Amino acid sequence: MFEAIRKLEDYRNEALAKLGDLANVSTNGAGLTEAEAQLRQIKNLTVELTGKKSRITEFKKEIGKVDAATRAEFAQAVQALDKDLHEALESAESRLNERITTLKTEREAVDVTIPGRRPRTGHLHVITILRQKIEDIFVSMGYAIEDDREIETDYYNFDALNIPEGHPARESQDTFYTTTGLALRSQTSTVQIRAMERRGAPLRILAPGKVFRRDTPDMTHTPMFHQLEGLCVDKGITMAHLKGTVTEWLKRMYGPETITRFRPSYFPFTEPSAEFDFSCFKCHGTGQFEGERCRPCKGSGWIELGGSGMVHPNVLRACGVDPTVYSGFAFGFGLERMCSLMYNIDDIRHMFENDVRFLEQFK
Ligand code: DAH
Repeated sequence: MFEAIRKLEDYRNEALAKLGDLANVSTNGAGLTEAEAQLRQIKNLTVELTGKKSRITEFKKEIGKVDAATRAEFAQAVQALDKDLHEALESAESRLNERITTLKTEREAVDVTIPGRRPRTGHLHVITILRQKIEDIFVSMGYAIEDDREIETDYYNFDALNIPEGHPARESQDTFYTTTGLALRSQTSTVQIRAMERRGAPLRILAPGKVFRRDTPDMTHTPMFHQLEGLCVDKGITMAHLKGTVTEWLKRMYGPETITRFRPSYFPFTEPSAEFDFSCFKCHGTGQFEGERCRPCKGSGWIELGGSGMVHPNVLRACGVDPTVYSGFAFGFGLERMCSLMYNIDDIRHMFENDVRFLEQFK
């Protein structure tokens, strides 16, 4: 064998050794990163073994310089090697590309049969739900929802409501004061005054909101709670309108069989005054539920809900409404109490501790 051919054979062995494992690259097992690294190696090797500066290119240039007698044989050997190298590289590259495509498809595959995950959604607070329900009933009866301030002067919280300084009713509604002497309202009755001052008579309003009292928290007290206040002032309004309105509202809340009862009472801002009760929504007034003493009404058949009465002439006068022309009724009650009775919540403090496990039970 002449020199040139021998060199070429040597080089074939060297080149094939470089291709080594890559030439027979396994399309199984390798992960995506590994396969991509192998592909890069193949590309580098392609340049090295078949590019412009490769040994095979040099061999091709040498063909012309070889003895005429052996030139054809040498040329054939060069071309055979060139072809072998190209084939080995291309086949490795295409197998790797296939492998990479398969791996990528697998990685990006979406299983459309997996059930979706439901996003966690929030919901309104139980007090808000109850408030809105009552608001809807009163709005349908022609009442406007009146939202007003929680920080008040003593005038609106007490004086204008016929509770002058030294009146014992101030004691039972001891509240919080700011350093400048403003009071956190202890009752939503303040809105009666604000609304009449603003709108005059006639008017029909429902005023929901937060109220504050200097109470030590326990199962039935929190220093902040919610009240709903109703006020209707017009010519010729009587106690019958009060009873009719409260009865209609409670029937719509708890069912048409609900009955109401009014007991004489005292509030400084109404005269006459009455507390109102309704027949228990659970035992329907029987006091017994499933053979046992009914829980919400404690076996009495009645649920005490709030205070009411005919607006005191002094209150009307304080707002510039003439009590010889207009009369009105008002009522007020606490939402937490109503709520805890309805949902059998034994401690109203739970409502404000913001524990989702508690809150999510009442949607
Ligand atoms: N403001 C009273 C309270 O906090 C509740 C109340 C009683 C409101 C009688 C009224 C009413 O409007 O007429 O205890």
